[in-house]
Amino acid sequence: MFKPGFFTGKLDDAEYVYTFNDFILLPGWTEVEPREVVLRTKASKNHVINIPFVSAPMDTVTEEELAIALARQGGLGVLHRNTTIERQVEMARRVKRAESMIIRDVVTIDASMKVGDAVRLMQEHDIHGLPVVDDNHCLVGIVTWRDIRYSDPSLSVKEVMTPKEDLIYATEEIDIDEAKKLMQEHKIEKLPIIDDDWKLRGLITFKDLELRGTFPNASRDDNGRLLVAAAVSPFDLRRAKALDKYVDILVIDVAHFHNKNVFTATRKMIKEVEADVVVGNIGTKEAALDAVSKLEEVAGLRVGIGSGSICKTGVVTKVASPTLYATVKAADALVELGAMGEIPIIADGGIRHSGDIALALSAGASAVMMGNLFAGTRESPGRLTAIEGRYYKEYYGMGSARARSKRLQYDRYAKLAKDIEEGVEGWVPYRGTVEDVVKELTAGLQAAMGYIGASNIKEMWSKSKFAKMMPQSIQEIKPHNVYMVRGEGI
Ligand code: XMP
Repeated sequence: MFKPGFFTGKLDDAEYVYTFNDFILLPGWTEVEPREVVLRTKASKNHVINIPFVSAPMDTVTEEELAIALARQGGLGVLHRNTTIERQVEMARRVKRAESMIIRDVVTIDASMKVGDAVRLMQEHDIHGLPVVDDNHCLVGIVTWRDIRYSDPSLSVKEVMTPKEDLIYATEEIDIDEAKKLMQEHKIEKLPIIDDDWKLRGLITFKDLELRGTFPNASRDDNGRLLVAAAVSPFDLRRAKALDKYVDILVIDVAHFHNKNVFTATRKMIKEVEADVVVGNIGTKEAALDAVSKLEEVAGLRVGIGSGSICKTGVVTKVASPTLYATVKAADALVELGAMGEIPIIADGGIRHSGDIALALSAGASAVMMGNLFAGTRESPGRLTAIEGRYYKEYYGMGSARARSKRLQYDRYAKLAKDIEEGVEGWVPYRGTVEDVVKELTAGLQAAMGYIGASNIKEMWSKSKFAKMMPQSIQEIKPHNVYMVRGEGI
């Protein structure tokens, strides 16, 4: 059954698997200045982002606050799934409501309800005004925080609201400037949008109009709302359908996507949702070929297994596909299928600084996913602590004991797929705001592209040249022989 030398051949013929440490990029002829570089890229087949940075779906990384901050900078947040369906949907709704010309998903109230109900609704949704509607969803008034702040909670909404006769409202045709003017003229914060029959079609808030000018580079959908993605298990169709109304992209979140049951479940999910479905994690060329050719409408590949800073999969199983290696393999698969550029690759795990991002993009990725770097920001949900005079934020793997027990806690019927922990728990240095981190990574990436002579990410794919490092060489291209005052941790 086995040919002679079969087992020795396994070692002798083994291929090299490279990591970010093993390569550098060579400088090339350039006509590109770093500031001129365009970082626009695809996060999925149908969604474009303005910087190639995606945050990892981890409960110490991406909830609504970070997703909003990152989308405003031009990137994309993937909301974690280590919580109830309701809470994850609420996160997505909050991102969508954070900024929009017209809010479509308006929270409303009935005139017969009490002031106390209005207070509760406003607090629950973190808003300051509620259109009042009748049974046919027709506008009959508006109640704002100002109207109810000092009112008796047992009064009915009808008694405190601004009634229909005194309302300032508009129809769908209104543009931003007209809306702003109208709201300033009447000193109002909220402008209900109605149709000819007084049916409520949406709501414009003054805050949203002002914010539109503040983040010109933000990643937005066709309605001007921030882009957002959410992680789902392929076996949780109920969650995927609940999220589908609010997110642009669903990310299949399993450690090893090349699995028969996962393929079957994903095939079904893709048919039942409207959002783009990005699949992962992918570690080999075969997995990428199968994902794209055997599943219809795969909208992106999330690649890399075992490189994450909190991963111990490579230790406890000795199975891994480092992110750089997984990226080139997936890129080769896409080239073979004629889908390079159409289906983006998101290189996931092991990014420590902008140099690693330059390597991943040169290897064929359209974007990179980062957990560690974003976990250290103010907007991440992890706890902040001071250790010996320095600030750190909590960061743990989704396969760690901590994340696993949290999973069981919110869903006592949840079944953990494995009996082994594949992640560790720890702390990462506090890095300031998402904006600070994005600025630093962007500047580094633009500088790399300037050296290479690439004015955009597609040119990175074609123009960049890799050079192999000897194992010890990495010491020389890092800061060395100096006591560092700043910049430790490189
Ligand atoms: P970084 O290096 O940015 O990587 O911290 C984030 C990515 O790591 C993956 N991840 C895990 N991998 N065990 C693993 O083997 C885990 O517990 C774990 N948690 C997260 C994931 O792909 C993430 O995007």
